[in-house]
Amino acid sequence: MKVAILGTGYVGLSTGVCLSDIGHDVICVDLNEAKINKLSQGISPIYEPGMQRLLTKNIDAGRLSFTTSHQEGLDHAEVVIIAVGTPQKDDGGVDLSYIEQAGKDIAVHVKQSTIVVIKSTVPVGTNEYVKRIIDEQFDGNHSIELVSNPEFLRQGSAIMDTIEADRIIIGAEKKEVAMKLQEMYRPLHVPIILTSIRSAEMIKYASNAFLATKISFINEIANLCESVGADVEDVVKGMGKDKRIGNSFLQPGIGYGGSCFPKDVKALLHTAELNGFDFSMLKETIAINDSQRRLLVAKAVNRFGNLKGRKIAMLGLSFKPETDDMREAPSITIARSLIEHGAKVTAYDPVATDNAKKIVEMDKVRFTSTISKAVKEADAIFIVTEWNEFRQMDISEIIKKMKSPIIFDGRNCLENNRIKECKTIEYYPIGRPPI
Ligand code: UGA
Repeated sequence: MKVAILGTGYVGLSTGVCLSDIGHDVICVDLNEAKINKLSQGISPIYEPGMQRLLTKNIDAGRLSFTTSHQEGLDHAEVVIIAVGTPQKDDGGVDLSYIEQAGKDIAVHVKQSTIVVIKSTVPVGTNEYVKRIIDEQFDGNHSIELVSNPEFLRQGSAIMDTIEADRIIIGAEKKEVAMKLQEMYRPLHVPIILTSIRSAEMIKYASNAFLATKISFINEIANLCESVGADVEDVVKGMGKDKRIGNSFLQPGIGYGGSCFPKDVKALLHTAELNGFDFSMLKETIAINDSQRRLLVAKAVNRFGNLKGRKIAMLGLSFKPETDDMREAPSITIARSLIEHGAKVTAYDPVATDNAKKIVEMDKVRFTSTISKAVKEADAIFIVTEWNEFRQMDISEIIKKMKSPIIFDGRNCLENNRIKECKTIEYYPIGRPPI
């Protein structure tokens, strides 16, 4: 099948390499010339396990190509997948300008009957809106059908999440259109669920909002565990054995971040408000997440009295491990709050430092190239992202370098028995008794 993909971010690129890998003829279109040049040479602009291999393999096989020209990309496409960004607006709503532009480009350049698939995360009703945009500009007599086909991949496991997805959602009005997309995805052998367009759009938001709420729920349980002297890790183990609950997305910490959950929960709340619906539960999910991001600082203030002149070493900056993405990373709130409290902040991250340096709130942070340099003479360590490098670090050597051996672990990534071996340490995890 001839497939064109508009946008080469995480979603567009992962979709492109995976669809070409199962035999489709894929062309990816992006206006960013430097990015397209790199991709054409087989160089991935993002770090994703498996991406580089599939990229070169499918370019070499002649099934995958890249262009900045909409004309070239859309010329023969039977299926056009829109995977452009949908950033957040100040009011919590979604900025659809890239989507609108994609609709206009399709109207101008598509010369044959085409299925337009919206994969970007868009509010309910957007597919119909894009259909209107296309129809307004379009003077051909071929048919253009819209399909909502949301994406559920995670950064850091984008390829595996696409190839071995739990489900593929196809929201279409006409049966033959849905069948054509089913055919496109068939080689993946992933369960396919057919729905209406509006239900498909809602499934994406409902899924992300549910997972975010699950995280806020377990964070509140963790906080309560601290008050009553229970251990949240045991609680999660016990809860997770119940198949109806499951044990994934119950890892307590310092709140969810990234380019999806914070934006999508707010967007769903915005949709609810626009429809006169009071989705108060989502407001709590957001409020809990905001206060969870301030938890480590509150614990440190509680421990030290105040943080003026204290040196705090932040280990980890990215919103989760295995990515250099700093979007909505809890580390930003933590760094700003520490500075406001008069603390001196050093920080180390295995890959996210360059991106962190660009963030205004981090301009007073001193970035280091090793854990050792970050923790030197520190009054306390904050573990902010659960990189393996921190899980495996030699704790007794690390605390020797510090002024006082105090660790606030925002991700519960250090094992209790390793901590207990270091007799002098003071260790404050989340939702577990301190050591
Ligand atoms: C998330 C969803 O997991 C994907 O299914 C979805 O496709 C994607 O958003 C999207 O909408 O594009 P992602 O943002 O890449 O994927 O990252 P996650 O692995 O879901 O983590 C999100 C945040 O939740 C991270 O800050 C992580 O630290 C936090 N988290 C996750 C927890 O605090 N506890 C957990 O148990 C799990």
